[in-house]
Amino acid sequence: MSDTLSVRMDKKERDDIQRLFGKHISWGQVRYLRCAHLDVYERIRKGTTFNDAVTGDRFYDCFSSAGCFNVGRGNTAIMDTLRDALDDYDMGTHGILSGAKVAFATKLASLCPGDLNKVVLCASGADACAGAIKLAKGATGRNDVITTKKAYHGHEGFSLSANGKDYYKELFLPLMPGFHMVDFNDLEAVKRLAGKNIAAIVLEPVQGEGGIHVATKEYIKGLRQICDEHGIMLIFDEVQTGFGRTGTLWGMEQYGVLPDIMFTAKSISGGVYPNGAVVYREIAPLTSYVEANPLFHTSHGGGTDLGCVVSSAVLDYLVENKVWENAAKVGKRFKDGLNEIGKANPDCVKEVRGLGLMIGIEYKYEFIGALMADCLARQGVWAVFSGNAPQVMRFQIPITASMEEVEDLLRRIQAAVKAMRLYLIFLMPLARISFIRNLLDNVHVQIVAFNLIRDVEDFVRGLLPKKQEVKS
Ligand SMILES: Cc1ncc(COP(=O)(O)O)c(C=O)c1O
Repeated sequence: MSDTLSVRMDKKERDDIQRLFGKHISWGQVRYLRCAHLDVYERIRKGTTFNDAVTGDRFYDCFSSAGCFNVGRGNTAIMDTLRDALDDYDMGTHGILSGAKVAFATKLASLCPGDLNKVVLCASGADACAGAIKLAKGATGRNDVITTKKAYHGHEGFSLSANGKDYYKELFLPLMPGFHMVDFNDLEAVKRLAGKNIAAIVLEPVQGEGGIHVATKEYIKGLRQICDEHGIMLIFDEVQTGFGRTGTLWGMEQYGVLPDIMFTAKSISGGVYPNGAVVYREIAPLTSYVEANPLFHTSHGGGTDLGCVVSSAVLDYLVENKVWENAAKVGKRFKDGLNEIGKANPDCVKEVRGLGLMIGIEYKYEFIGALMADCLARQGVWAVFSGNAPQVMRFQIPITASMEEVEDLLRRIQAAVKAMRLYLIFLMPLARISFIRNLLDNVHVQIVAFNLIRDVEDFVRGLLPKKQEVKS
């Protein structure tokens, strides 16, 4: 891979993109990204990194579009598969029989534990979430669903109703009826609600957007027991925890517990072509419901021929390279390293947690999330704080990352935390005053203040020290 960009974007082109993005998509989004130094223009996307088309700077991609690039950015095996597939396929007519669909569904079922053998092809994570909930409701004939606070399952109908953050939901009330929100890892709360009206319990084995909260083994085992006692469908959202992210192919394998239904998306197609899937156990009443209602969940973009060809290649790549083993190995070193950084900076870092290469740092205060994203970006590390918990920075680098890259990443994070301490010298005394801390934590205040800082910085940019280059 060459270090020189074949096409470099000049400032005018960047300004035009910003202006037109603002005009036709959203000014709010432009300001939001800029305030945390997330206004990059991805150019060369390769392995664990991408280059910014404007500055040419290379960044470690620690966001991976919230877990879409497990097999690495621009993975040549997957890109070549899509290129070749375009000779023979288009999306295909949805719902009809096809070799591409069958090949993918067969492979997916063979890689899922137990009797998770039956597949519903979907278009995205939110779509798959809706499919899973509809299946549980239809098969049980019950209406209510238990979900967890801070969870993220998507932004549409059923998935939004299952979402654990009020901010996303309150503009659209009333949402779907019968959704009950409980604290994550709180088994007693589930016991209190469990009964003949509950169709399903939906949760992520590790909450991603919620701020990297790992479910305990007792919790997951307890949920299985409650579901068995009450005829409730246990549904795992494996959109982020699937495809090797946590150190096993599926997050559920960390617990040795089989859900009745799981759904997934994102890295299902290596970040190259959208796809999604619900996988459910070959048991009544799930199978009988689907046989009686084969069109209970369908869309033109669900399980396209192109998507299925790409997803089959992703599964082959993961299995041939056992990439999840790498996630477990380098993930352990990464988490240990982050813990060392955390212990050395107790005024800034509250906790480090995660599984495999799904790791989060929780900061002391929410406002540190946006500031830290900025400090990290200056060190060539592109990391994003959690949507449902801004005080938590997620690190979800592609799971193909080498040990050498992880060591380099840790050095850069250490340098970013050092820079952050300078800000904190001024901000920490102020943050102790609750009124000021509320202001600092307020996303609107952050957007105005940090954009102002960026304006000043752009002005004096030439005087600032240059970023470290990320080696290819
Ligand atoms: C755990 C989880 N579930 C569901 C979704 C929704 O997926 P999509 O964006 O493909 O609709 C996401 C997306 O961030 C997610 O992280």
